[in-house]
Amino acid sequence: MISKKMQEAINTQINAEMWSAYLYLAMSMDASDKGFKGVAHWYRKQYEEEMEHAFKFVKYLEEQMARVELKPIDAVQTSWKNVAEMFDQTLAHEKKVTAMINKLYALAEKEKDYATSIMLQWFISEQVEEEANAQELIDTIKCVGTDKAAFFMFDKQLSAR
Ligand code: FEO
Repeated sequence: MISKKMQEAINTQINAEMWSAYLYLAMSMDASDKGFKGVAHWYRKQYEEEMEHAFKFVKYLEEQMARVELKPIDAVQTSWKNVAEMFDQTLAHEKKVTAMINKLYALAEKEKDYATSIMLQWFISEQVEEEANAQELIDTIKCVGTDKAAFFMFDKQLSAR
């Protein structure tokens, strides 16, 4: 069994993962609206990943016979100036999620909750990848600059995710 405090913290994380999903779905919709099919596809996949993250935590709470509480999901921004702004916001958001996961891990260590620590190790590695992916998008869009043909190729590449 996990502590009530840990149960509450994981429920908060489920909400954060679902909020991330909602954010990336909004980015996907906005990119699609602007005609950027590849960017829209990339964020749609990202949305699906975030829902998977949320469900990993849901499954864990169920296995631990702990209560899953679905809290209200706050509204998200619905339009962005350009894709560079989306990518910057994605990295900033992922950094926040990394800090949340690290805090959860610190709580698990403090409580000597070994099962939760092990479960969280997957998320710690995943966050390294999430931040690296967002950074790569930022670096690439900087190289693309205002070159329309390069952007077209970049957008096409993202469709392959
Ligand atoms: Fe679930 Fe993008 O972290």
